[in-house]
Amino acid sequence: MIRVGIVGVGNIASMFVQSVEFYRRSGGEPRGLIHTNVGGYSVGDIKVVYAVDVSKHKVGRDLKEAIFAKPNQVPKLVELPETGVVVRMGRVLDGVAEHMVEEFPPSSAPQPELEELVDEVRSYSIDVLANLLPVGSREASRFYAEVAAKSGAAFVNCVPEFIASDPQYSSLFEKHGALVLGDDIKGQIGATAVHRALASLVTTRGGEIVESYQLNVGGNTDFKNMLDLGRLDSKKVSKTMAVAATQPNPDTVLDRIFAGPSGYIPFLGNTKVSYIYMKVSGFMGLPVVIDLKLTVDDKAMASAVLVDVVRLAKALKDRGIYGSPGWASSFYFKHPPAPTRSDEEALAVLYRELEKLKIPIEPKRLPNWVFNTA
Ligand SMILES: NC(=O)c1ccc[n+]([C@@H]2O[C@H](COP(=O)([O-])OP(=O)(O)OC[C@H]3O[C@@H](n4cnc5c(N)ncnc54)[C@H](O)[C@@H]3O)[C@@H](O)[C@H]2O)c1
Repeated sequence: MIRVGIVGVGNIASMFVQSVEFYRRSGGEPRGLIHTNVGGYSVGDIKVVYAVDVSKHKVGRDLKEAIFAKPNQVPKLVELPETGVVVRMGRVLDGVAEHMVEEFPPSSAPQPELEELVDEVRSYSIDVLANLLPVGSREASRFYAEVAAKSGAAFVNCVPEFIASDPQYSSLFEKHGALVLGDDIKGQIGATAVHRALASLVTTRGGEIVESYQLNVGGNTDFKNMLDLGRLDSKKVSKTMAVAATQPNPDTVLDRIFAGPSGYIPFLGNTKVSYIYMKVSGFMGLPVVIDLKLTVDDKAMASAVLVDVVRLAKALKDRGIYGSPGWASSFYFKHPPAPTRSDEEALAVLYRELEKLKIPIEPKRLPNWVFNTA
């Protein structure tokens, strides 16, 4: 079993908790997963045993109810058993933006000290703590990262705050013998994954990107929170770098790539629509133009990756791996410590390293010749 703690009981948390139950019951040949087996664990081996939030709509409630409390809007997809997990109060810090107070009204419950949470995370024997705070939670993300490092829990940083990719923080985790994976989770078939695939394709076929943008709109609190441009700096860096990293000289294309959240349209709910445009200089300098529209369930995209990463973190922890192993984050995150030119390259490296550690991962999504070093 993998004992997971969640920081931020928002829409991803709701999809994640429900997906674990969905796959636990599915048996046979589960569909839609990137990997069915990671380190000997199936998705059904995940158990959320701890949850932290600050909203008065969620704190003090059973997780089973809190995941449906407003403003969450992932619908009820499966019947959940009693969880026995009561959402505890966290530290607000910069987690709640001024324009989000109505959505995430802080509870009046006392806010814990760091050491209190460290003791608690230890006493619950939490294997993996997942950071699911709103974009722009710079201080709060670092606060919970420190809780994880000091308690020995692996920290999975799903948000665009640079922690796994910051040498100062990777040293902190190393010092405490704890693991960190991140940063900014890359959705399963999300805008970044698709944009990167297009950029890789163009380069592999000898084209040159002249200019490209990725515009994203959605209607959940994640998009509403990002209306405050002051909270977006690291999100834009994360998304733009993810696409630029596919190019031979990433720095030279940065000013010709735009990738970021671009609008909040409430009626879209958790549906995210992305428009990707790419102008390419092709054969004899003649232009090629790609215009693509992608429509996804934003929270399913994130949870599909989270169920893999949580199992990977536990498998690495089982083998005594700590610090910030870049190779473990490259495939799953937008801003990893070790960016790769393509997702195929990232996956090949992941498979090779796991093979060395004798950690199973199935099914392999690449042909054998790509990752077999023998
Ligand atoms: N496809 C995706 O959904 C995707 C992809 C990459 C990254 N992310 C990032 O993942 C994060 C979570 O996304 P979401 O849609 O679940 O967000 P959300 O807005 O639904 O939920 C955020 C939750 O955090 C809580 N919170 C705020 N401050 C807190 C604090 N200090 N301590 C504890 N809890 C606090 C809020 O009350 C809320 O319940 C966001 O940063 C998002 O940008 C999402």
